Parts: sequence; structure tokens; C-alpha cells
Amino acid sequence: MLLRRISRAARRLPFFLLLVTAAPFILEAIIHVWRSQVPRPARDLDAPFFTTCQEPDVAAERENAVLVMLARNSERQKAKRTVRSIEAHFNQWFEYPILFLNDEPWDARFIAELNKTAGGRGIFEVIPKNQWTFPDWLDQDSAKKSIEAQGHAGAPHAGKEGYHHMCRFYSGKFYQLEALSKYKWYWRLEPDVDFTCAITYDPFVQMAKHKKVYGYTIALWEVGKSCPGLFHATTAWKSLKGIPSSSLWSAMMEASWMPFPFRSFLSWLPHRDAAGDVWSLCHFWSNFEIADMDFFRSRAYQDYFEYLDKKGGFYQERWGDAAVHSLAIGMLADPQQVHHFEDIGYRHAKFYQCPANALDGQLPDSPSLVKNKPWSPESAGGIGCRCECDGKTGRNFQSYCLDRLKQPSSPKKGWFS
Ligand SMILES: *[C@@H]1O[C@H](CO)[C@@H](O)[C@H](O)[C@H]1NC(C)=O
Repeated sequence: MLLRRISRAARRLPFFLLLVTAAPFILEAIIHVWRSQVPRPARDLDAPFFTTCQEPDVAAERENAVLVMLARNSERQKAKRTVRSIEAHFNQWFEYPILFLNDEPWDARFIAELNKTAGGRGIFEVIPKNQWTFPDWLDQDSAKKSIEAQGHAGAPHAGKEGYHHMCRFYSGKFYQLEALSKYKWYWRLEPDVDFTCAITYDPFVQMAKHKKVYGYTIALWEVGKSCPGLFHATTAWKSLKGIPSSSLWSAMMEASWMPFPFRSFLSWLPHRDAAGDVWSLCHFWSNFEIADMDFFRSRAYQDYFEYLDKKGGFYQERWGDAAVHSLAIGMLADPQQVHHFEDIGYRHAKFYQCPANALDGQLPDSPSLVKNKPWSPESAGGIGCRCECDGKTGRNFQSYCLDRLKQPSSPKKGWFS
């Protein structure tokens, strides 16, 4: 009887030993993931500037700001679509200049037509050759071969040399442009964009007033194979400079469930930091940006850009300016300096954001807004002004990334948390 009981216990022994050995590792992993969570604040630290239509205050002082669009002569119609839209929904009241940038000389027709669409406030500049090319220390033949190979591997736009120049330009050289040096703020526009709500206040003035440096509408995932080395280079620079992780940085990361010490072995994989945690690839979509150029002109940002540039990843891989800007904001900006323009209706490619209209906040009798009709239905909790969204899109585009990146500033839980 006793013997049988002993032998039964002995048979279970390996299982108990395994459990006792594994328990601290499992516990450590749970603590690691738990500690990596980003707490949500009790109140909204990044509320919309306004939640109803405003009577556009055309007499108010403007900020030192410019709208900027990079375009090619062949994109005349798409550029016009964007400019018509921003003029109808914003710039008819606030009359900021629109600066068009091209890496080649402008066609007279583009200038004439776009200047007209921009209400005569168009400025047309050509990017100096040395700001739109390979850096001189880079082996161009090897870069060109790599670009061709990336094209075959299928990362979006990675086979086009011009696209690489553009990403590098927007990542760093843009902020050194002579044509932009007299401005502090920019609003980036892209050809083929629709604005779908009236923007009846001056976002530059509000950004300045609320001490924001970076504003966005849409957040989504970067294509991982376009930038396998970007995150390693970024974390290397981050630790070189001893930059602590902000809550926004942590919100961009996903903690690994792999127990210590095996977790740190994961750091060799793409998009992992030294601890083995992974960048979610979430970033702000930079074709819409309202931002303070002094942030990007700062020594810290330019140093980060130069560091990345020296790694050659703008050509050996296809590092995008959206990811570069976002990671920099995650490292160098206070999370409260970032603003989500959730009241701005915006569409580019197949991605959109379109808020519901504010209930009783549409100023139906405003003479300034007579042209901004028709508007879609109002609903409780809506913050849009005369938005033109079809029924299906009458709410903000929710996504995993938007939800994650708003975690440090918003008490509201989205669909994913
Ligand atoms: C744009 O139009 C305005 C007003 O008609 C004019 O004064 C200005 O010179 C034009 N700009 C260019 C670059 O043609």
C-alpha cells in the first residue's frame, strides 16, 4: 500500500520539478508585460481644440506658417484636387500661403493653374539638387542595386529611386530648405487628398497656444520589410544619447512574453530593442502633418537624422519619413506635445478619418459657412463641423495603432484596449 503510494508520487515528481523551475520564469514574464503597460490618464490630456463649428475669426493674428505640397508636374490634377479641398474647407478664411516643391523645374501650366486654385497665394520652388540625391559618401552603384532588389522583393515603392530620395528629403533635408527658413509652422499636403469637414479655427494658433509640436490625423502600421534595420539604428542612437523612454515611446512598443533571459536573445530580430521587446510598427501617417519646424530643426532631431543617414538605410532599405518622424517624436517630444486632430475629416489613398457632426454645433445661419454644404447628420458626441461623410463613415476611423498611440493622453478606451 505504502509502496504503491510512493511510486505514484515518484512518477509525478518530474512534473512538479518542472513547475517549480518554470514558475519564476513565468512570473517574471508576467511582471515584465504588466510593467510595460502604459497607464491611461484620468482626464483627456489631448482634447480637441473645438468640438463645434466656430465663426471663422478672419481678423485674428496668424501664426508664421505655410502649407507645403511636394508634387510633380504630372500630378497637376491631383494637386488641384487637394488645393481645391483645403481652400474650400479652411484656407478661404485663413489665407495661408501654399508652397509647392518639386525636384524638377515647374511647368508654366502647373504654376498658372495651381496659383489660381490657391487663390493667388501659391509659391513655387525647386528643391536644390544636393538636397534630393544620394549622400556623397554613399556608394551609388551598390545603392542602386539594392533599390532594384528591393523593388523585386515587393516593399511598396521600394524599387523607385525617387521615392528613396523623397523619404530622405522629408526625413531631414526638408527642414533645412532655404524656402522654408522664414516659417516656423508647416501643414503638409499631398496630391490627391480630400478634406471633408470645415476647419473653422486656425490650427497653427491652437497648436502654439497649447504648446503642441506635432499634429496628425491617422496612425497605422509601417510595412515591416521596408525597414528591417530602422528600429535597431534608432534604439542604438537612443541609448547612445541616454534618452529615457517616455510613455509615448512605450505605447509604440509591445512587451515580449518570452521569459528572461531568453527574451534578450530576440533582440537580434528586426524591430526589437535590446530587451527583446518589439516596435509595433505603429506610426503617425506623415502625409498629413501640422508641425513645428523648430522641433525638426533642433540639434537633437538633426543629429538623429544624420545618424540614420550614415547607416545608409534610406537607400539600402526603404526607411520612410513617417516612421522616422514618429520614432523621433516618441524619443524627443513630451507625449502631451502631440495632437490628434480627430475633428479633421481627411482622406488619402484608401485611408480616411471622418468624425460625426456635432449636435447643435453647426452654425446653420453663419454667413461665412454658406458654401460649406451639405453636411451629413449630427449626432450626440460628434465633434465635426459640416463634415461630408457618407453614412458608413460617420465616425472616426478606429484602429489598433490610433488607440495605442493615444494611450498616454486619452482616458477613452478604444476597441482594442
Ligand atoms: C499668383 O497669383 C497672384 C495673384 O494673381 C500673383 O500676384 C502672383 O504673382 C502669382 N504667383 C505666381 C508664382 O505666378
